[in-house]
Formats: sequence, C-alpha cells, structure tokens
Amino acid sequence: MTTYTRPEERLLLGPGPSNCHPRVLQAMASPTMGHLDVKFMAIMNECMDLMRLVFGSSHPVTIPVSGTGSAGMEASLVNFIEPNDRVVLGVAGLFGERMVDIAKRQGAQVIEVKAPWGQAVDMDELEAAVSEAPTKLVGLVQAETSTGVYHDLKPLAAIARRHDALSVVDAVTSLGGMPVLVDELDLDIVYSGTQKCLSCPPGLAPLTVSPRALDVLLNRKTPVSSWYLDLTMISRYFGKERFYHHTAPVNMIYALRESLMLIAEETLEATWARHAENSTALYAGLAALGLPALPRPDQRLASLCVVRVPDDVDEAQVRNRLMKNYSMEIGGGLGELKGKVWRIGLMGYNSSARNVNYCLTALGSELKAQGQKISVDAALKEAAEQFTIPV
Ligand SMILES: Cc1ncc(COP(=O)(O)O)c(C=O)c1O
Repeated sequence: MTTYTRPEERLLLGPGPSNCHPRVLQAMASPTMGHLDVKFMAIMNECMDLMRLVFGSSHPVTIPVSGTGSAGMEASLVNFIEPNDRVVLGVAGLFGERMVDIAKRQGAQVIEVKAPWGQAVDMDELEAAVSEAPTKLVGLVQAETSTGVYHDLKPLAAIARRHDALSVVDAVTSLGGMPVLVDELDLDIVYSGTQKCLSCPPGLAPLTVSPRALDVLLNRKTPVSSWYLDLTMISRYFGKERFYHHTAPVNMIYALRESLMLIAEETLEATWARHAENSTALYAGLAALGLPALPRPDQRLASLCVVRVPDDVDEAQVRNRLMKNYSMEIGGGLGELKGKVWRIGLMGYNSSARNVNYCLTALGSELKAQGQKISVDAALKEAAEQFTIPV
C-alpha cells in the first residue's frame, strides 16, 4: 500500500511562511461558498475594510490579489509600467533585485540605487537618481527579508511627491508587524503577502492603490501585459459590478479576514509594540550567544532578526539539528549571505516571549554542542531584560 506524506507540526521561525493562528486555520475550514454569493461578497467587503485598517489606507482599490507576495509585486509593477518608462528602484537585497527583474521585463528603463547587503539604501542617492530625469515610479522593499534591513518609508513618499512619481512599496515582511501608514505618508502602491506577520498560509497578496496611481493605470497607452494581474479587469469584480474575472480563492479570503480581525482586536499599535519588543529581546539574547546582528540598530526589522554565524560553526548542521531536536525552522542566508547568516522570524502569531525563549534555548544548546563557549542562561537573562509589556 502506498503511504502518503503527512504534514507535521513545526515551529516556523524562519523568514516565512510563519505559523498560522489557530483561528485562521479554523476559519479556512468553514464551508466554501460561491464567489459571487451575496454572503461571500459581504465577507469579502469586510476583508477589504480590514485590509484598509491594517494598511492605514483609505484607497478604494484595496484588494487581495490571488497569488503569493510575488503576485503582489508583479501586479504593483506591470499595471503601472509601460515600455521605456523610467523606474528608479532602491535595491538592498534579493527582493529589491526581484523588483528590478520584473520592471525590466516590462521594458522599463530601470535605474538601480544599490546598498551593500546588510545596509539600507541611501535616500539622498535615491532622490538624486529620481531627479535626473522624469520618473514614473520610485520604489523599494520596506522590510528586506534577505538581509533583515528596514527602510523608512517617509523619505521615499516625499521623494515621489517632490518629483511627481508614483511610490511603490513591498511590505511583504512588514504588514501587520510594523507600521506601513499608507494615508499618513501618502504612498501610492503597496503590496504584501499573507504568510508572514498576518499569521495566514501563503496564497494572497494584499494590495492597495492610490487614486493617483489608478489614474495613471486608466490612462495607459498600452494594455497591461498580464491578463491575470490586470487591475483594470480585476477591479470590476471588487467594484459594484461584481464582474467575473477569476474565481476568488474563497477559503483563503476567510483566512485573511480572520487574521485581520485578530489584528483589529489586538489593535495595530499593540501588535507593532509586541513585534518590536520581541525582536529587541531576541537580538539581545542572540548577541549574548555570540551572534552579532547584521543590520545596525536603526535599520532593524521588528519581524525578522538577521545575525552573523561565527566562522567555526557549521550553520547548515545547526539548522538541521534544530529541526531534528526541536522541530524548529530558522532560515539560512541567501545570495551573497549564503552560509554567513541566520534569519530568524518572529512574525504575527509567532512573535511571542515564549518563542524568543524557546529559540534562544534551542539555538544556544546546539551552539554549545558545536563547542561554542556560551551560556544559554546569560542569553535568556539578556532577553528577559527587554520584556517591558506587562504580563
Ligand atoms: C520582501 C519580500 N517580497 C516578496 C516576497 C515574495 O513573496 P512570495 O514568496 O510569497 O511570492 C517575499 C517572500 O519571502 C519577501 O520576503
């Protein structure tokens, strides 16, 4: 008889996906309804209202794109770029590079403003590049998952306004864990993914588009190159018309709505504070384990800690042993950081003191097993000193 592989319970403290909240999984198991059913439409509308809350956006076009974060990225670029458009992108890691790749495939003239991996893009350099010639789009990744580096969106939004360009932001590893503040900063196009700080499985890409950007889209001279991601058609399903474009992934919408409800119940401010505190505690504990942070303090994410691995540690072996002995996943490095860093996520449901302590205990024990002269107790103590939210 064939035996089929069963999914197993894991603690997902890597760069994503992260563990789902139990309420999210329960919501997914609700009965599937027709995607044009009025009751489902009501659920979809609630989901979009909650997305606006979490994005801090009042943009009418705020929708869950069917597909993972990369679909959000692709939708955010292909709808607004036409051949030969000038696009300026800040690149501080792998996901910035992916934005460049997509923009180039649209025939855009792409100017990359690069930062060394582990550092943020210099906003003066970004503005200098934008100011050289009329620019259609300026963008970057707010939370660069390959390096753990954070970009402040305020200067980006200001550059876009000063130079009459649209801003585009990747908030895949930040939405729900750190402020995005679309209205307050006047951002144009912002997308995310469900599998990180939203405590959902991968599968949807929340996206919000400003009326200014919508105007650019509606005045294109050429058709959008992607049929599936063409927002001029997709928007007709989300608008009053409810025009069929493709079948909405109904049960994923239940999941996303539930996860957004969880954030609304906790409040955005409390969610951000929880992420900030737990990442600070984890970074403190990791430093005590002899693992220095890659990004400098003011450029760190609240959702993902990235630390350097000591030269005499077999990093792949440690990750394998963490899985075997603790059912715990952490991420290795990508690209030029391969073999050099660990990426440890505390995202959404997983951002808890319990997971900080579990991670330090497990990782510390495995480092000791590799002969590192460290103290797990000292690391736990360092972390404990950072916990300020009353129990
Ligand atoms: C910053 C960032 N952008 C885009 C993506 C792509 O998302 P997905 O893998 O869900 O397509 C990821 C995935 O990790 C990411 O971290």
